Amino acid sequence: MDPYKFRPSSAHNSPFFTTNSGAPVYNNNSSLTVGTRGPILLEDYHLVEKLANFDRERIPERVVHARGASAKGFFEVTHDISNLTCADFLRAPGVQTPVIVRFSTVIHERGSPETLRDPRGFAVKFYTREGNWDLVGNNFPVFFIRDGMKFPDMVHALKPNPKSHIQENWRIMDFFSHHPESLNMFAFLFDDIGIPLNYRHMEGSGVNTYMLVNKAGKAHYVKFHWKPTCGVKSLLEDEAIKVGGANHSHATQDLYDSIMAGNYPEWKLFIQTIDPDHEDRFDFDPLDVTKIWPEDILPLQPVGRMVLNKNPDNFFAENEQLAFCPSLIVPGIYYSDDKLLQTRIFSYSDTQRHRLGPNYLQLPVNCPKNAHHNNHHEGLMNFMHRDEEVNYFPSRFDPVRHAETYPIPPAICNGKRDRCIIGKENNFKQPGERYRSMTPDRQERFLCRFVDALSDPRVTHEIRSIWISYWTQYMQIRACFDA
Ligand code: HEM
Repeated sequence: MDPYKFRPSSAHNSPFFTTNSGAPVYNNNSSLTVGTRGPILLEDYHLVEKLANFDRERIPERVVHARGASAKGFFEVTHDISNLTCADFLRAPGVQTPVIVRFSTVIHERGSPETLRDPRGFAVKFYTREGNWDLVGNNFPVFFIRDGMKFPDMVHALKPNPKSHIQENWRIMDFFSHHPESLNMFAFLFDDIGIPLNYRHMEGSGVNTYMLVNKAGKAHYVKFHWKPTCGVKSLLEDEAIKVGGANHSHATQDLYDSIMAGNYPEWKLFIQTIDPDHEDRFDFDPLDVTKIWPEDILPLQPVGRMVLNKNPDNFFAENEQLAFCPSLIVPGIYYSDDKLLQTRIFSYSDTQRHRLGPNYLQLPVNCPKNAHHNNHHEGLMNFMHRDEEVNYFPSRFDPVRHAETYPIPPAICNGKRDRCIIGKENNFKQPGERYRSMTPDRQERFLCRFVDALSDPRVTHEIRSIWISYWTQYMQIRACFDA
């Protein structure tokens, strides 16, 4: 008998019931009792094991983005960008890479409705030949804050009140009244696109600035964008109430049913790039995550397409245990100094070591599909089969060697240690432009949503005045608020 053949998998089910340790179970209906009426004996190991397993079925849900749905498929390069990056999976048009994607809402719990006004997560794991690349983005191209130091406070303000467990606008308006950099994000969130119709009809964006590095070592700043081929569609409030009232999992169901029906969702991937030598040419800082890169000056360049053609085999294994992390990159793609991205590099694997355990990267959905090797070993729930005797490096007994070097951004880092805000804040121009580009009825709905949020009785006169002063800076909408 090969003891390693039987890895835990339903494929290896025996034809009869067994305990987890493989002993036959001759009765899975009745507890072991003294006589016909009880009491139950503690020695009923099968009953105890069954309950203990059930009692531990839930794992901690994600602190944010707890509610989500996943699907599998492939990414295919359609345009050659090998002049910009040496990433193997982007080497030539036609190259396909398997992916798994998880769409999510941000704030509420695992079972919450999918019709709430909330940003949506759009996270893609590319299983490349050089390791996994995770592009962990959202449906909007900007973010609320630009320094990760503020992220836990921001999430606390957006989450339900710790006393009432109700999401309350006074807490949100209070927190963000200290953060005018959030206006651009609110210009998306409080717009008509604030409640996507479902996951298939929404855009995605890497949001943070990354770097592409080519074979010669030349680096470019890059932003990534996903555009759905079926177009962007959203729900207005009264539609959302109807949809959510009838089915609180409507977006998960739409994704699952579309794939089941062979109506595979597809997105095109675009990039925008900036040569770091030109980064001072703009009236915003290209590494400021609260800013878009205007498409008229930094055009979208097509790269590829992504098709989702397979539903998860098991929701728990391929959604709850799925772990994305912006720090997972591959040669040819690198982080920029974007402060928010730098914080994210730490936070995701940290939470996943807590949420899923230190060996979460061994879970089938998270582990790379290429050969991998190192001397990290043991730890809680380690199920990797290892039989080597040398678990140190270097060793004359182990032929493993360093991988070939690959280029990383060549820029020199220097500067004084400091805690500071960025130079070019420019908080009002982009949200003002976005507001002015809306049709009058869309502007009206946008303002109504803001007025509604500010109408919470616990929003003070001071907080209301701050918000009105923010929005009047570039938008000349005082008259609307006064009305
Ligand atoms: C410093 C700022 C941020 C911090 C500290 C942070 C932290 C986290 C944490 C702890 C999780 C839960 C991960 C898990 O349990 O697996 C998470 C999930 C997520 N975050 Fe962030 N986040 C930040 C900013 C952002 C931004 C700017 C975006 C959009 C680009 C984003 C997109 C996501 C997505 C899509 C998920 C869900 C991934 C999944 O589906 O499993 N986050 N974030």
